[in-house]
Amino acid sequence: MEQLKRILLTGANGLLGQKTAEIFAKESDHELFLTDLAERAEEPRKFKYFPLDITNKEAVKEKVKELNPDIIINAAAYTNVDGCETERELSWRVNVDAVKNFIIASRYNSTKVIHVSTDYIFDGKTGNYDEQSRPSPKSFYGKEKLASENALISSGIEHAIIRTMIIYGNGKNVKRNFALWLIDMLGKNHTVTIVDDQYGQPTMVDDLGLALLRIVERNKKGIYHVSGSEYLNRYEFAIRLAEIFDFDKELIIPIKTTDLQQAADRPMNSSFITLKAETELGLKALNVTDGLYMLKHQLGM
Ligand SMILES: NC(=O)c1ccc[n+]([C@@H]2O[C@H](COP(=O)([O-])OP(=O)(O)OC[C@H]3O[C@@H](n4cnc5c(N)ncnc54)[C@H](OP(=O)(O)O)[C@@H]3O)[C@@H](O)[C@H]2O)c1
Repeated sequence: MEQLKRILLTGANGLLGQKTAEIFAKESDHELFLTDLAERAEEPRKFKYFPLDITNKEAVKEKVKELNPDIIINAAAYTNVDGCETERELSWRVNVDAVKNFIIASRYNSTKVIHVSTDYIFDGKTGNYDEQSRPSPKSFYGKEKLASENALISSGIEHAIIRTMIIYGNGKNVKRNFALWLIDMLGKNHTVTIVDDQYGQPTMVDDLGLALLRIVERNKKGIYHVSGSEYLNRYEFAIRLAEIFDFDKELIIPIKTTDLQQAADRPMNSSFITLKAETELGLKALNVTDGLYMLKHQLGM
């Protein structure tokens, strides 16, 4: 029989955090403790919520001692990739030092840490990255996420890391991800300029929440690449979204990454080999069409 776990979920008000809490509540009986920076949970839920700044080492230690979780799932992060270039100290504290706080706190109770990382640890020159591919981050965000992975791997504590990319989906008061932003802009008949030279595999957040549940239930360790099953560029994604949501495709203008002058360099081609997650976690991730239809349904549109 499956053993029920006590799980501390950070970033519970974020896109992945909200979906993870929802999926665990629906599909399992594990006991979650939700936390984020804000005073309140985004929605009243089945689980208890309390505010916690994960960069506060003593507060993290205290909470882990008090709650005695079997697992910490870290869905919190400083996720503004361009912001990481300018806010280096703050973003390092959230993306790297906080993971070290979990490692220190976990030693008291032998807690397992499940962490979320990114395709931005790769340079995007070749694509087809598997879990053994050599990281070579181009941005400060990518360097931070790689440093957080390395801290976990060298810590000796039990851990799992999911690397993912271009997360989209719905949540209450979440930051606008690429799909929600497009729906907002195209829904108001605004023209959008979208790069047609950045390729990847957009990932519906529901698939990621399920991957986290499977890691918990199958007691998996190590690194897993989890992404949507379809590889395309951002412009193609926007066109597909316009088709599915019945927006005017003429509003979408293709441009090049160099036109954008973004602060952070991005990998241009970061496809994942997801065979390990498919075989060990039994995941069959959505393609873009199915993911967007699911999102449309969730939004009641
Ligand atoms: N979004 C993507 O496309 C993408 C791609 C690859 C990997 N990832 C990774 O996936 C994970 C989840 O991303 P997401 O899109 O769900 O992020 P998100 O919506 O930005 O959620 C992150 C949450 O962490 C919170 N947080 C920030 N600083 C904190 C602190 N010091 N203490 C406690 N909580 C803090 C944020 O609160 P505030 O909003 O108040 O700051 C937010 O609620 C992250 O590890 C991210 O790096 C994301």
